[in-house]
Order: sequence, then C-alpha cells, then structure tokens
Amino acid sequence: MPLAADARTLWRLARGFSGRGPHGARLERFYAPQAEHYDAFRERMLHGRRELIERLPAPAGGRVIELGGGTGRNLDFFGERLGALAAFELVDLCPALLAVARRRAAGWPNVAVLEADVTSYQPAEPAHCVYFSYALTMIPDWRRAIDNALAMLRPGAVLGVVDFYVAEARPAPGLARHSRLARGFWPRWFRRGGVRLSAAHLPYLRAATAEVHLAEGVGRVPYLPWLAAPYYVFVGRRRGEAPLRGAWLE
Ligand SMILES: C[S@@+](CC[C@H](N)C(=O)[O-])C[C@H]1O[C@@H](n2cnc3c(N)ncnc32)[C@H](O)[C@@H]1O
Repeated sequence: MPLAADARTLWRLARGFSGRGPHGARLERFYAPQAEHYDAFRERMLHGRRELIERLPAPAGGRVIELGGGTGRNLDFFGERLGALAAFELVDLCPALLAVARRRAAGWPNVAVLEADVTSYQPAEPAHCVYFSYALTMIPDWRRAIDNALAMLRPGAVLGVVDFYVAEARPAPGLARHSRLARGFWPRWFRRGGVRLSAAHLPYLRAATAEVHLAEGVGRVPYLPWLAAPYYVFVGRRRGEAPLRGAWLE
C-alpha cells in the first residue's frame, strides 16, 4: 500500500475519534477521510474475519445479516455462497463506508446495503445468521446491539462475532489469560480510534448463547512490529434451540 495512504489513515487515527455529537456523525467524521483506504489498512489488523465467515451457515436460499458491515469487505469471504443467498443485509451507520459497500455490492442483486443503527434495526424477515465483525468494540451500547441481534435470528440460527478484546482478570476455565500489562495497554492503545476493548463482551456472549465455536488468538497490527493484539472468533446459538437443519457448523 502506498505510504501516503497509510499516512492519511494514521493522521486520522492520531487525531482520534471525537466524543462530540451523535454517534453516526462521529463515525462519519472519523471514517470519511479514510474510507477509500479503509480496506487496505484494516486488512493488516482485522484478523480472523475469513475464519468467522467460513464457520457461519449461509445456506442457499438463506438470509444473512452483517451488523456494522462498513465497506462490505466481508462479502468477499463468502465466495460462491453469497450468490446463492436469498438476501444479505449489510447494516451500518456511516455513509462514507456505506458508499464503498454499495460499489462493492453493485453486482449482487440479493445484497442490500442499509444505513441504520444496529442497536435498533430489525429486518423484515428473521435471519439464518447474524454477525458482527470488529463492530461491537465501536458500539457504545454493545449489550443492546447483541440483544437486538439475537432478536433477528430464526430458531436455531446463529450469532457470530470476531473482535478485539481483553481477557477478564480471572477468566473462566479453558479461556486465555492476558498479562496485566496487556489488559492495561491494549484498551488504551485502541481507544483513540474509538475502539473500546472490553473484558465483558465475550462473557456476555457466552452467557446469552449456547456456544458453537470459540477461538482466541493474537494478531499483528500495523507499525507495532513486536506486539500482537488479542482477538476472538465466537459463534453461538440462542439457548435451548436445535441447530437449523442443513447448517454445517458442527
Ligand atoms: C471497525 S469497523 C468494521 C467494519 C467491517 N465489519 C469490517 O470487518 O471491516 C466498525 C463498523 O461499525 C460501524 N458502527 C459502529 N456503531 C454502529 C451502530 N451503532 N450502528 C451501525 N453501525 C455501527 C462503523 O460505522 C464501522 O463501519
């Protein structure tokens, strides 16, 4: 990627995510100057997206929703499955990123790109799968966003999430531990860019759903060559529901 494009994105990140005004206006102010370079820069830091998409059920004739879908980069990870869906809805609050997503989705008549707040948006029909890809950490009322996403699912459908996080000080058995230094450093490092790493997201998801898949990892971020940021990939189904017939998760 050209250094000039990187410099523009880094400058925007250095100026920070303004705390003033409605959430949508703040997102637009932050992303509009970097929208055209968003994909190239984030490609090197948003790990696990392909892994999540490959684990999600996207059956022929099915309905899939990405909440906080940004530029629609994740559409590419569905490959041939995308064209066989009855509907794919990409929902986001930032017009500059949605403009990129609309260009990307131009060849797909079954893809709808929608401007809405994911804490309140509801689709006309329930979905086979709903997911957040690096969006929960940018949504102030993330609990409401998760609850609202669960309400979009048809019985047996799944919720997927990939995002940055930090572990709880005392994580549940079997979960990754992060040093005190890491738990202090990463939330501070990301906060300037409006990304709020939390130790509460993963426990909330695990409590709200029956876990289908969980992987925790670390991944490189640009211009910090010796450090790797923690992220997780999670898939869960609403509790007490049998898997959708024809889904191929387990
Ligand atoms: C880091 S980007 C991730 C974009 C995309 N999912 C990806 O993987 O490249 C976070 C996205 O969440 C969106 N977002 C944040 N809060 C939102 C809200 N309340 N409703 C809809 N979208 C929101 C932002 O506009 C942005 O596009």
